[in-house]
Formats: sequence, structure tokens, C-alpha cells
Amino acid sequence: MENVVAIDGPGGAGKSTIARLLAQKLNYLHLDTGAMYRAVTLAALREDIDFNQQEKLIELARKIDISFDQKGEILLDGENVSEEIRKAEVNKHVSQTAAVKGVRDVLVKKQQQLAQNNKVVMDGRDITTVVLPEADHKFFLTASLEERARRRYQEVRSKNKDADFEKIKESIARRDKMDSEREHSPLKKAEDAVLVDTINLSIDEVLAKMIEIIEGEVQ
Ligand code: CDP
Repeated sequence: MENVVAIDGPGGAGKSTIARLLAQKLNYLHLDTGAMYRAVTLAALREDIDFNQQEKLIELARKIDISFDQKGEILLDGENVSEEIRKAEVNKHVSQTAAVKGVRDVLVKKQQQLAQNNKVVMDGRDITTVVLPEADHKFFLTASLEERARRRYQEVRSKNKDADFEKIKESIARRDKMDSEREHSPLKKAEDAVLVDTINLSIDEVLAKMIEIIEGEVQ
């Protein structure tokens, strides 16, 4: 599958930042699939849906309209919710939403359609394994839990918000565990995805490394 870059990895590995910059460089569309699971979670919170009621979550996923604007920001029924989907309440429930097969079926179909009609850099947890296994370029981005928590902590602090490092670390670890151990489309490295450990690399260095690999694969 040409013109498609698929990136997976755990929380805080830098996927979204890297995917966004890579898309800019290649002049591709960036599709943050995590934002889609977050948007369904936000809609469920707004409708006061109990996260144990899977049928309700599936019905909701089918009903709402999720799209991206030109900047790659996410729209829920036309409303830009790119800030709101990052709030703690969404973090808390998103892995529960993402574990529901019927919800995944709706979003994966949408993701596959988007990749068919556009040149895309898509990031998430199951892009290289389930959504776009035929992508020409596949990466698995990772770093230690400590490092990922540190990055997320700095990100929150840079927005002048209060942050507790230990709480952030716990929350990332909890989500990693749920994402890796779930029955449907768990987070795992595809055999043919290139592993990029970002621990001692700057964003620019990770980007340069990935571009070098992509260019090498094209020739
Ligand atoms: O940015 P961060 O690493 O915090 O997470 P995200 O990429 O926004 O994804 C949020 C959650 O959505 C993950 O913890 C997964 O539970 C779920 N997700 C998924 O199941 N499959 C994807 N392709 C993307 C996200």
C-alpha cells in the first residue's frame, strides 16, 4: 500500500508529535486514531453512558460523526474537541471504550476508508497490525515508561497546568496494560514494523531516522 505510513506504540512514545511532523514533511494527511477513540469516549461522558454498557457505546459510535479538519484537528458532530478529548476524565475511560469490538469495527472501517482516499500518516495502537497491515512503511515507536511519563508530565506543565508525575506515570502504565492485554486488536509490535526506541533521541533525530528508512524503502 503506497503513500501510507503506519505508526504504533504505547502512550507517550511521541507518536502523535512525530506523526504530525512527518505528515507535514511528506505533505500527507495526519490521522490520529487515538483522537477518534477519545471522541467516542467524550461523547459517552456527555451522554452519561455507563462504560460497562457495551451495546450503548457501539450504538453511540455508529450515531456520532467524527471527522478531521484541514489542520488534522478532530471534530465531533462538527465541533472541534481537540482540547477537550485530552482531559483526565477521557484518559480514565478511553481504554474501556477502545476494548469494545463493535466500537473498533466502526472506527477501523472509517480509518481504512480515509487511507484509501488520501496519502496518510496514521498513528495508533493497531494500525500496523489490523487497520493497515499492507502499509509500505510501518513503525513501532517506544521508550521506557519512566521516559514516556516524563514527556507527558512536561507536556502538561508546558500548558501551565498542574501535574503530578507519579499520577501521570500510573495512568500511562494502567492504559498500557489494558491496551496490551485486551482481547481485540491488542497493542503489539507487528513483526515487520521497524522498532524505533526514542529514549535518547530528540524529535528531530527520530524524524530524520524515519525519513531515512522511508526513503530507503522507496528505492
Ligand atoms: O496520546 P496517547 O498515547 O495518550 O493515547 P492516544 O493515542 O490518544 O490513544 C488513547 C487510547 O485510545 C489508547 O490508550 C487506546 O486505548 C485507544 N486506541 C486504540 O485502542 N487503538 C488505536 N488505534 C488508537 C488508540
